Amino acid sequence: MNIKNLRKDVIGIDTEVTLLDGSRRRYVFLDNAASTPAFRSVLRSVEDLLQWYSGVHRGTGFKSQISTELYDRAHAVVAKFVNADMDSNIVIFVKNSTEAINKLANRLDLNQEDIVITTLMEHHSNDLPWRKYCRVIHIDVDDNGFLRLEDLKQVLKTQKGKVKLVAVSGASNITGICNPIHDIAKWTHDAGAKIFVDAAQLAPHRPIDILSNNDPSHIDFLAFSAHKMYAPFGTGVLVGPREIFEKGIPDVVGGGVVDKDEAGSPNVVGAVALAKSISLLEEVGMNKIAQHETKLLEYIYERMKKIPGVIHYGPTTNLERKVGVISFNIKGMHNALVASIMSAEGGIGLRNGCFCAHPYVKRLLNISKEEDKIQTDRMIRGDRSDIPGLVRASFGCYNNEDDIDIFIEVLERIANRKYKGTYIQNPKTGSFMEKNHIFQIPSCFNFLKLKYERDDSNLSEAS
Ligand SMILES: Cc1ncc(COP(=O)(O)O)c(C=O)c1O
Repeated sequence: MNIKNLRKDVIGIDTEVTLLDGSRRRYVFLDNAASTPAFRSVLRSVEDLLQWYSGVHRGTGFKSQISTELYDRAHAVVAKFVNADMDSNIVIFVKNSTEAINKLANRLDLNQEDIVITTLMEHHSNDLPWRKYCRVIHIDVDDNGFLRLEDLKQVLKTQKGKVKLVAVSGASNITGICNPIHDIAKWTHDAGAKIFVDAAQLAPHRPIDILSNNDPSHIDFLAFSAHKMYAPFGTGVLVGPREIFEKGIPDVVGGGVVDKDEAGSPNVVGAVALAKSISLLEEVGMNKIAQHETKLLEYIYERMKKIPGVIHYGPTTNLERKVGVISFNIKGMHNALVASIMSAEGGIGLRNGCFCAHPYVKRLLNISKEEDKIQTDRMIRGDRSDIPGLVRASFGCYNNEDDIDIFIEVLERIANRKYKGTYIQNPKTGSFMEKNHIFQIPSCFNFLKLKYERDDSNLSEAS
């Protein structure tokens, strides 16, 4: 398996969409930081599993025993992927990274005197769960979006004894910046605390080695999501020391399973799908994937920098320091408008807004406290037309230069105001829709007849 073959293995890689002018074009997906498409080989493994699928643990039948064995082995595949020693560490399958972090926050026995250090660059999922249980200190970033490591060291020193955990992202979902997690681990351990790495954006792009437990740079806890790793079948992962999860009361209790932190019937399909995806990524090589994505970043930035009016956020040089995530704006244009034109007139899937990391986005945009208050008040009144944000393009390992060429061509048109449609903003959501661009739901989904209200929807029913 190599990267070219991986691309062929992506379900929907040739899906065509109808653009505003009626032409058909291959859909270019550049929103992989949200969720990636699935690999066909993963789907095939799911189908293979379903031939043998049965409830796991306790079942005495043939299929149950096979399903149980496969489910248990999926834990081992994940452990190997991050180099976790299974004797001292446990792999817990959860729904996604958010659930993993909530579980960890619940299981750490934190109280209001304890401190968790997190950072301004975190996704809300690695911020809000900690605030429920203890005092949280946020480490600031510099103007380029990099974590202020000296500030972190300083807080670890001054708060030594009170800090229980440093919770930091492996890579940012906005700038793609990779944090030096092993250095941070060492400083954290020196201060007598433990480290959690939110690897939701790191695991799909870089090799991860949590190192052995007695290594000072060891990562104690780690989480990631399968839907960002080409296996969108509803599973996520929490890895951590076995002893932590063996004591205390789990956050969810119920039907007996072997592992008390996986209460109820587990998602065997999701676990096996993730294991298959991991095996494919490993076959290609995570280092090769990282190099490929760095080349794509070099290619896209070289071309984007030539387009007048494009404002970049985060580093645009020395690109090995970041995963394939690019955030930008076009001067004088609303981020939601740019993303909407990209879709309607380019068939390009992007994302815009604050990406569940509002403090980081506001910091990158240099929004003052006064401005922030005005915007927040307006938002509370139900007007989101002016909320700040960015446009984001994010790569998967399968994206290539052709995808980037299409992206650049449409971006140039937009920057030169050569787009054609009439875009109307919904002030309640802030999003823009082209007046006449109607999406058709494919007729294969005709069984989904029930409608729900969505006031900015441009969807029509399949005929
Ligand atoms: C850095 C980071 N952490 C956590 C999450 C939450 O992941 P999930 O939605 O799979 O729970 C995301 C999602 O985009 C993310 O980018």
